[in-house]
This record gives sequence, structure tokens and C-alpha cells, in this order.
Amino acid sequence: MKKSNNTKIRLAIVGVGTRGFHSFGGMMSRRTDAEIVALGDPNAPRMKAVAAHYGLKARCYRAVAELFLREKPDGAIISSPDHTHEGNALLAINSGVPVLIEKPMATTAAACMHIIEAARTRKVAVAVGFNLRHVPVLKKAKELIVRGEIGRLMLIQNQEFYKGGRSYMARWHRKYEFSGGLWVHKGSHDFDVFNWWNSTGTPVRAACFAGVNALRPDRIPFPVKKGRPVGPRCEICRYRKICPDALLWNRAEDPIFNPAITKADGYIPGLCMYTSDKDTHDNGITILEYDNNVRASHAECFVCNFSDRRYTIVGDRGTMEISLEHPTEIRIRPRWSGEDRIVRVPHAEEGGHGGSDPELLDAFIASIRNRTAHSATARDGVRAVAVGEAAELSWRNHRMVDISELVDLHQPILNEKIP
Ligand SMILES: NC(=O)c1ccc[n+]([C@@H]2O[C@H](COP(=O)([O-])OP(=O)(O)OC[C@H]3O[C@@H](n4cnc5c(N)ncnc54)[C@H](O)[C@@H]3O)[C@@H](O)[C@H]2O)c1
Repeated sequence: MKKSNNTKIRLAIVGVGTRGFHSFGGMMSRRTDAEIVALGDPNAPRMKAVAAHYGLKARCYRAVAELFLREKPDGAIISSPDHTHEGNALLAINSGVPVLIEKPMATTAAACMHIIEAARTRKVAVAVGFNLRHVPVLKKAKELIVRGEIGRLMLIQNQEFYKGGRSYMARWHRKYEFSGGLWVHKGSHDFDVFNWWNSTGTPVRAACFAGVNALRPDRIPFPVKKGRPVGPRCEICRYRKICPDALLWNRAEDPIFNPAITKADGYIPGLCMYTSDKDTHDNGITILEYDNNVRASHAECFVCNFSDRRYTIVGDRGTMEISLEHPTEIRIRPRWSGEDRIVRVPHAEEGGHGGSDPELLDAFIASIRNRTAHSATARDGVRAVAVGEAAELSWRNHRMVDISELVDLHQPILNEKIP
């Protein structure tokens, strides 16, 4: 049933760390059409601090299962670590609660399918947090592609540079078991953009090369004295004043990672990125082929001092170039005639991730209120994870991976409307 415009949409947030607290907590505190009624997170002091920070009356649950036993929110945002998405989403869905699952939908395509099967059985809607779909310049590119501005799509290339990516090595993201590897954790964002732009194609195979070149113990960028090791965490490292990569902040005043809160579970996001026990990459490239003769490549690098995504999108009538460092323009280079032309795109910096986060939340709330589809569905979620998982298997096993080894992206359930 649709909800009337006068009713507040009641949401639960599961996982109130960086994303749950700063992004969703902040955005929700500015809304009058929706409210947070419950929080779920094993860290009780963090939930208490989040509730106090935003003045919430939300009930707090250390066990997410209990939250969904006792509460019946209109929707739940799953912003816990990636490897917990499947379990938390299933708890919500099996209680009949629609979910917005942060990206990646889960750490494997098989886990995504478990979510999809449960959602189908319970007729519950699943949305995925692909906020790049709400970045104005990328939305405009989609519109231009669909309109045939560059003809038939042939090739998509993206190079991503992410300054903040080095901090992955300091947190749970660095471990395959928690993030599914960075091609799933981070790359699924980018593979979703490719899948979205090339909406008439299905990804069929991927090959990937990746590794850790810079953020490793034998590449520490300062002299290390014998018997005086670096790390294990920046804030207690004896080299913190000379390390150019030290992640230092005033933790005593951090609303969700201050010592009183991190004491509850021992999780402090600040391991030495050089010596941490990572099993993921700091740079790499994935190439990908679709069943409609479109090819794509995505390179990602977390060792740089800037953040950008640089796209070249080639069609048989022209090429488009986009850089997110300059998000107000798209350069179009026609194949045969005319001059290059610039398409101007209005861009709001307000809100997280270039204004895309508020739109993502708007879309989820509207989908609950009006029973309409979200901007990214469970089908989009599994397609992106499948490419990321194929890339992970490829670089780890030195072979090209057919996505059909992981999941059948043509199976009928993926074309059924949920709910
Ligand atoms: N779309 C985006 O742009 C974007 C940006 C950042 C993070 N994210 C996603 O948000 C999610 C959270 O990332 P983060 O950076 O906030 O992590 P984080 O480590 O800062 O916070 C995770 C929180 O989840 C809690 N938690 C741990 N296990 C849990 C469980 N089983 N059930 C419920 N809560 C649990 C932790 O106690 C912590 O409070 C990830 O899936 C990440 O990919 C998405």
C-alpha cells in the first residue's frame, strides 16, 4: 500500500559507522518527511552516541535479529560492513521490510542471489546504494548515450584515482573476507556505471591484473631504524610525525570512534597502511566484455594525491570525455563532422558525493512511499558484484573468468519485478 504524503517514513539504520552516522544520519536529520526509529549495531556506545548526536528517540539493538523481531520500520538502510550485508538484508526482508543495501550488495554474486530469492518470496523491494547514478554529469552521459549522441556504444574506459583509497588498508576493507576484495567493494560502483550505460548488454567475461605496489612494508617512504618497527596504528606509531601517509585525527573528539566507543569492540580504523595484513590491491586494471559487443576497462589506483574518475566513452559516431574533477562538462567529439562540443551540466556540491547522496536517499524514500522502483535494483546489484567477483578471481588465479561460472545473469528471476 502507498503511504500518504502526510505520514513520516520510519526507517531503521543498520550499521552506524562512517556511512550510517555521517551520511545517512546527517541527511535524515535534515528531513521532515522521514525519521529514524531504530538503530542496529553491535557497538552499543556508538549507537548511543549517534542517537544523542542527532537527538533521536530511536531504539537501539546490538542484535540486528532482535531489531527486526521487535520493530516494523517502513524501510531499513543497511550500512554495515560488506560481509554482513547478506545476513542483515535477509533479516529485514524476512520480516517484510524493504531495504536500501549499501554497495556492494553483498561480497559474492551467490550471496546477492540469496537476497534476491528471499525478496521474491517475501515480495519485498531491494534497493542498492549506487550513488554514482545520481551524479549529474554521469546521468547526463546516460541520457546522451540513450539518445544516440555518439551512435552505437563500443568501448567504455574509466580510470579512477582515489586519494582516500589508501585508508582502505587501515580498515576492514583491506581483507577479502570482509569486503570481497576492492574490485567488489569499490569496483562494483564503477562496474554498475558501465552496466547502467550499456543497459542493452550483459557482462559475460572479465580479466584483471592487480597487486600491491606501494602500500607494503618494503616501500615505507622514510628510514626505519633497526628494532624500532613502524605501526601498528598511526596514532601510536613512533614515525607518525614524519610519515607522509599517517592517518591522524583528534580521536578524542571523534563522535563515533573516540576511545570510549572503540573500547567496546576494539575496532579502530587507523592501522598502518604499509604493514597491515592486507590481501587486496592498491592498483589494478580490469577489462570486461559484454554480450552486445561492447568492451570496457576500469583501472583503479589508491596511491595518488587526488581523486578523479576519467571516462572515455566511444560510440561508432563519436566519443565522450568526462572527468569528475570537472563535473560540469562533457566533451563530445563527433566522428566525422563538426567541432568538438561541450555539454554543460549543472552540478551541486551540496550533500555527500557531489550531491548524489541526498538524491539516493530521496529515491529510496520515494520508492517506499509510492511503491515505485528505486534508481538501482537488486538486479543491478548482482550484475555489478558479479563483475567485481570475476575480476577478483581473475587476478588471484591468473585467468580470464566467465561470469556464468559465478551466476546466470539471464535467469528469469532477475527479470521479474520485485515486488
Ligand atoms: N555508497 C558510498 O559511496 C559509500 C561510501 C562509504 C561507505 N559505503 C558502504 O557503507 C558500508 C559501511 O561502511 P563504513 O565506511 O561506514 O564502515 P565503518 O567501519 O565506518 O562502520 C561500520 C559500522 O557497522 C557496524 N557493524 C559491524 N558489524 C555489524 C553487523 N553485523 N551488523 C550491523 N552493524 C555492524 C560497526 O560497528 C560500525 O559501526 C559499507 O558497505 C561500505 O561499502 C558506501
